[in-house]
Amino acid sequence: MKTLFAHRGMSALAPENTLAAFNLCPEYGLSWVEVDVDVLADGTVVVSHDDTLDRCTNRTGSLYDLTFEDLQDIDAGSWFGDDFIGEPLPTFTQFIELVNKHKLNINVEIKSCTAGWEHTEKLIDGVINGLKKLNRYSDLLVSCFNPLALAEFKRRSPNTAVACLFEKETLQQDWLSILQACHAEAIHVENDGLTKEMVHEMKHHGYAVNVYTVNDLARANQLFNWGVDGVFTDVGHLFPSRYRHG
Ligand code: G3P
Ligand code: CA
Repeated sequence: MKTLFAHRGMSALAPENTLAAFNLCPEYGLSWVEVDVDVLADGTVVVSHDDTLDRCTNRTGSLYDLTFEDLQDIDAGSWFGDDFIGEPLPTFTQFIELVNKHKLNINVEIKSCTAGWEHTEKLIDGVINGLKKLNRYSDLLVSCFNPLALAEFKRRSPNTAVACLFEKETLQQDWLSILQACHAEAIHVENDGLTKEMVHEMKHHGYAVNVYTVNDLARANQLFNWGVDGVFTDVGHLFPSRYRHG
């Protein structure tokens, strides 16, 4: 089965990591959604790729200085287009409600929290709590670039499938020991520089292999022909219907 992950939602059609971007997934037949999560000062888990507001909202500053009440004044859509003016920066709870409504499958990427370990533990706790509301029909995969945070998540939630994330530069000879230490089921690797031999080695060790971020259809085809299980894409709507459902 070849999986297309809607990377940060349908992020070419709507502002990334917003409810609007996730809401479009069923319409385009993408049943798997990738989402980035981090945590506010008061422990509220929110959906955001960056740890600052600067790139994708109408505000600036660190997420770690905010509380739930501050979310009311944040516009995470107007930077993308007029149709999205007033789009909120979602909480993880709102995200899970949407996922349940559409019966989506999810890859939750726990961001490698830059505010320290105490904050990271708050994030892990918040994600585990939020996931208690996930309906039993949804498949779930949790990933992180920080293997210490991922191992801690897996220790607290041993029945959840997890994936170690690597960038091209961090994918070294020790990748296997990192996956084993995390008790991971999957490896998520950067597209750039990935070779057929590397994919075969990962598959040989029994791991699901998912590749980010693949917006080129020929490259996606090549990766799938090498045995890759899934690709993260911003342009799922451009892929042939055989990759999509419904
Ligand atoms: O999880 C795959 C991919 O999303 C990781 O990179 O920076 O887009 O979160 P990034
Ligand atoms: Ca991500």
